[in-house]
Amino acid sequence: MKNYQYNLQKLDLHDVCAKFGTPLYVYDADIIKKQFKNFTKAFGEIDHKIMFAVKSCTNLSIMKYMQTLGAGIDTVSIPEIKMGFNLGFKPEKIVFTPNVVEFCEISDAVELGVHINIENLQTLEAFGKKFKDSYPVCIRLNPNMLSEIESGKADIDSLNFASINKEHYDEVSKENVVAWHNQSKFGISLTQFDKILKLVKKYNIRINGVHLHSSHVILSEEVFEKGIKTVFEIAKLFDHLEYVNFGGGIMVKHHPDDKVVKIDKIGEILKKEYDKFCISIGKKIKIWFEPGRYLLSESGCLLAKAVVLKTNGFINFVGTNTGFNHLLRPMMYDAYHQIINITNPDGKLEKYNIVGNLCEIDNIGTHRMLNKVRQNDIIMIKNAGAYGFSMSSNYNTRPKPAEVLIINGKARLIRKRENFDDLIHNQIELDF
Ligand SMILES: Cc1ncc(COP(=O)(O)O)c(C=O)c1O
Repeated sequence: MKNYQYNLQKLDLHDVCAKFGTPLYVYDADIIKKQFKNFTKAFGEIDHKIMFAVKSCTNLSIMKYMQTLGAGIDTVSIPEIKMGFNLGFKPEKIVFTPNVVEFCEISDAVELGVHINIENLQTLEAFGKKFKDSYPVCIRLNPNMLSEIESGKADIDSLNFASINKEHYDEVSKENVVAWHNQSKFGISLTQFDKILKLVKKYNIRINGVHLHSSHVILSEEVFEKGIKTVFEIAKLFDHLEYVNFGGGIMVKHHPDDKVVKIDKIGEILKKEYDKFCISIGKKIKIWFEPGRYLLSESGCLLAKAVVLKTNGFINFVGTNTGFNHLLRPMMYDAYHQIINITNPDGKLEKYNIVGNLCEIDNIGTHRMLNKVRQNDIIMIKNAGAYGFSMSSNYNTRPKPAEVLIINGKARLIRKRENFDDLIHNQIELDF
């Protein structure tokens, strides 16, 4: 068998599918560990903390595995924090980075004692009024990189959008691609920095961290460097600073030709700026990261069965028993996922559109060369570990897949497949 990832090649995934059924999410613990080690190695010379972005793969066993590797967690909702607590993560190992939430969620997070990122002025003001200097807080900035691009200092082509592969750049508006710009909803724009300072002064707010995450844009090394410098410039202004949080967003290859930033290179750039920064403020701070896709994407795949083969016009379709209810990324972001036929690895290469079974356009991959696909062959959709299951839905009243973790050479169930009762158990049938 060829073309498989790590342990996924040592086990016969047909046996795994026979045992747990399809569609099936399969994750390989060794790949997660490898990615984690690459990350720690790249930033090894910096006092850093890795907070796994739970939203990328919200599974208790995956979170627990991250814990064994030494990670904390980055959460975006109170239930994610509670999941962390249930697993024994201490509050100091949890950061809450919600986006446009009601203030009661922030108050709840204070109650729970976790680190908090504030990403808008309204919340910062409410926080100041309520908590003054009694609870340290981090602010999430939006460094307005669009102006960099418009002024020609950075090039839009140098921005990489993890979910969009190169062929699609032209079809995507700048607004969609550039999430670090001042029109995006994330973070407090640097143009409002004076307002941040006024609020901090007015309420005596204790800012202990500065946060910058590019949402889903992974920047080129050049733009990353510019972002780091900007953030350090600002972070200097806060006397209580303990850490700078660079969020997640480090891209991995989905397509063999994808250009991704080199994590070691980013580590080098950061180290240089970090050392200068610590000297300039006269103390050592920590650097935090919130990676999701870097740790999980490659480790996971979605296995589906080819159930219907049909030809319409000139196109050969492989109809699978999954769809965008299970893996949304291709339809939502035009994301490229490599797709292979693991049942017939030596079959003749043929061109197919691989589609899902939802009553919508439901492309998983178009114009793909796959080894000849026969009915019931198992189709592997790669790089599905991050934002795969966690973005799944019950659209078309179909159950969500099971999840399996391959660890110590064994395939272990980490989430049961949903059944009919799961699909209806919250519904209320009225009497008429
Ligand atoms: C604030 C924040 N941190 C971390 C992440 C994780 O990003 P990624 O999975 O690209 O590393 C996200 C994702 O959007 C995010 O919004």
